[in-house]
Amino acid sequence: MIKSKLCELLGITYPVFQGGMAWISDGHLAAAVSNGGGLGIIAAGNAPGAYVREQIQIAASLTKQPFGVNIMLLSPFADEVAKVVVEEKVAVVTTGAGNPSKYMKDWKDAGIRVIPVVPSVAMAKLMTRLGADALIAEGGESGGHIGELSTMVLVPQVCDVTDLPVLAAGGIADGRGVAAALMLGACGVQVGTRFLVAEECNIHPNYKEKILKANDLATITTGKRLGHPVRSLKTPLSRSLFQAEYSDISDEALEEMGVGKLALAARDGDLQNGCFLAGQVAGMVNRAQPAADIVRELCEQAEPLLKGASAWVK
Ligand SMILES: Cc1cc2nc3c(=O)[nH]c(=O)nc-3n(C[C@H](O)[C@H](O)[C@H](O)COP(=O)(O)O)c2cc1C
Repeated sequence: MIKSKLCELLGITYPVFQGGMAWISDGHLAAAVSNGGGLGIIAAGNAPGAYVREQIQIAASLTKQPFGVNIMLLSPFADEVAKVVVEEKVAVVTTGAGNPSKYMKDWKDAGIRVIPVVPSVAMAKLMTRLGADALIAEGGESGGHIGELSTMVLVPQVCDVTDLPVLAAGGIADGRGVAAALMLGACGVQVGTRFLVAEECNIHPNYKEKILKANDLATITTGKRLGHPVRSLKTPLSRSLFQAEYSDISDEALEEMGVGKLALAARDGDLQNGCFLAGQVAGMVNRAQPAADIVRELCEQAEPLLKGASAWVK
């Protein structure tokens, strides 16, 4: 059984988070992951507080285990959602795309565990100083908005500058990734792409099929010119975004090309115009399963690898 201080800190069985995924990880998926012994996370994305409250209540009706909410700090509704998580007494908040310092006191006073996503050592140091409870070091292999560094490089450097528990995210889809993350100094993992094909994940079947059929080179990064790179599957939309980035189109027009495209992928399965966020690890995701099986399998596969690691030492 893989156990770490993260399990004690949060009262979870396996040190596995299902990463918040905008337009995708709702109360149903989060509850299924938490019932499986990991930590399910509802994504607030750009949604208003009322939506997030509804999803929290759905999750709470489906599980007695702790679950979390991921707050995208760039969202126009971030202030609203920051209050909702306090009112609803959510166990864990993860944050992305910014600095959560102005909310920290309220969340800590409410007993919420705050676990920011960090893409760099500087961010890790800042979040440690601000009183975070743990950190998620997310490498650029991952799906969604990404930083510059890869997981292999980022995780040990983050572990070197903090005493907080660190979760590794980005490029982890099986027990080998979990074992490697622990070897790098992490005490848990956050997984996104593999949960896209969980049976309880309510996205359009076209999205799931694209993930299951993806190969190692199936993803592309766009948005670098706008300062917010995003990793998604290669599709007609992402290829035209990529080309437009190197054309003389204005930044405003380029930004406009991406608006509303996540919903077209997740809800409508629009293969032409949707933006199918996914990590490089999509090439390793080839089986739909219940979320609980994914959580358990990740850890069960890591166990013999970690036990066998002493074979390297002569
Ligand atoms: C479809 C998709 C949507 C995502 N949306 C968010 C989000 O709204 N907020 C966030 O902090 N991270 C987001 N992420 C990142 C995940 O939470 C997670 O850290 C990442 O997927 C881990 O890497 P992996 O995709 O290689 O497993 C998203 C990832 C994916 C694949």
